[in-house]
Amino acid sequence: MKNIKSIDPINLETKKLHKILLSSIAPRPIAFASTIDSNGNVNLSPFSYFNVFSSNPPILIFSPSRRVRDNTTKHTLENAMETKEVVINVVNFPIVEQMSKSSVEYEKGVNEFIETGLTQVKSLLVKPPRVLESPISFECKVQDIISLGESGGAGQLIIAKVVQIHIDKKFIDNKGDIDSEKLDLVARMGGDWYTRTTKESMFKIPKP
Ligand SMILES: Cc1cc2nc3c(=O)[nH]c(=O)nc-3n(C[C@H](O)[C@H](O)[C@H](O)COP(=O)(O)O)c2cc1C
Repeated sequence: MKNIKSIDPINLETKKLHKILLSSIAPRPIAFASTIDSNGNVNLSPFSYFNVFSSNPPILIFSPSRRVRDNTTKHTLENAMETKEVVINVVNFPIVEQMSKSSVEYEKGVNEFIETGLTQVKSLLVKPPRVLESPISFECKVQDIISLGESGGAGQLIIAKVVQIHIDKKFIDNKGDIDSEKLDLVARMGGDWYTRTTKESMFKIPKP
């Protein structure tokens, strides 16, 4: 018999529950989200409550939560509500340190491109810039924002429709597909853990 610990989440403080969820639902891809406020101030922050949920239409969803500490909201959420646009850049190993630095809780109006030394490139169809150093960037229009609660820790789903894609040609193989071996994407796990998709950590399963 396995020795199982069973938990009713109602009886757990949010911090502990958060830890269990983040260590269990892993690895999670990272949305490196660029937004602007209504005065044009640029923001860049990472979010691992993130994935693709539809191909037609192409929809990406990520979730800046209300802070557990003081129930305040994140600048990215405020900007997405104000200006309804976001660029989601993917994160690979060469930019992981800058991505981490950008997660510092800077004052409103601070541009994390400048803090991290990453390069802003003008987008084609939306106002927030994309990250030059990211292998792939998705320009998106915010289609909807769904609040999952009003308390600290409550996710706020930003549903983003992709309107333009930029792929660094270095990561396109001779068949015209994205080369997963070259990308070296990183993902978030529990605590301070990350994982890296190197050739050694990847394997294939042919379709049965
Ligand atoms: C890899 C990584 C993933 C993160 N994922 C999330 C997330 O999914 N949701 C969230 O609310 N905060 C997440 N954070 C924390 C935010 O990035 C952090 O609170 C940031 O300061 C928010 O910036 P903003 O207020 O400028 O939007 C993550 C941090 C890191 C380093």
